[in-house]
Amino acid sequence: MTLVAPSILSADFSRLGDEIRAVEAAGADWIHIDVMDGHFVPNITIGPGVVKDLRPSTELPFDVHLMITEPERSIEAFAEAGADIVTVHAEAADHLHRLIGQIHDAGCKAGVSLNPGSPLSLVENVVSDLDLLLVMTVNPGFGGQSFIASMLPKIEQASHMIGGRDVYLQVDGGVDDGNIGLLEERGVDVVVAGSAVFGTPDYAAAIKKLK
Ligand code: DX5
Ligand code: ZN
Repeated sequence: MTLVAPSILSADFSRLGDEIRAVEAAGADWIHIDVMDGHFVPNITIGPGVVKDLRPSTELPFDVHLMITEPERSIEAFAEAGADIVTVHAEAADHLHRLIGQIHDAGCKAGVSLNPGSPLSLVENVVSDLDLLLVMTVNPGFGGQSFIASMLPKIEQASHMIGGRDVYLQVDGGVDDGNIGLLEERGVDVVVAGSAVFGTPDYAAAIKKLK
């Protein structure tokens, strides 16, 4: 069954700890944390200090999605703050292979993300080194955007590229109960869901519907 990682970007930021406890109780598998620097993407969200303070609120894995330039400067800080998975953008990395090693050396699982406009070829030489490949189905920066359906062939190709390797295929952006079936059919292991969970009054019902 596809794992569901609610994105706290769509949660109530005045009560993030409560929101995390609520989605854990509602059946979430991972907690997806969107880190934005106002540079790689226009929006600015949270840093390692907030991640550290949220860490005691759950035992679920923290899936930290770094939408920042020069990610090599922040890997250790997010690892020490309690990240389990650290995902960087291929477009933000000058030395992607080295960066994946840096994430592993910091004790985390390593993910690489691709913007909608970026080809899979950016990651084909490092796929064996990865723990997670994230295919974005919106242009990163904001929650609540529409799913870009033209990414479906790329998702299918990503699944073939991973083959039998132990690499999670994750999709992020505009996922809802109307498109999750198309993702599961194409071999997606983990979906990120922001507004499809936090934008509803009943998180348990929302997660159940996705599953
Ligand atoms: C977008 C973020 C997503 C976002 C998803 O830049 O990476 O994780 O929170 O939100 P929805 O599910 O509402 O598109
Ligand atoms: Zn994300």
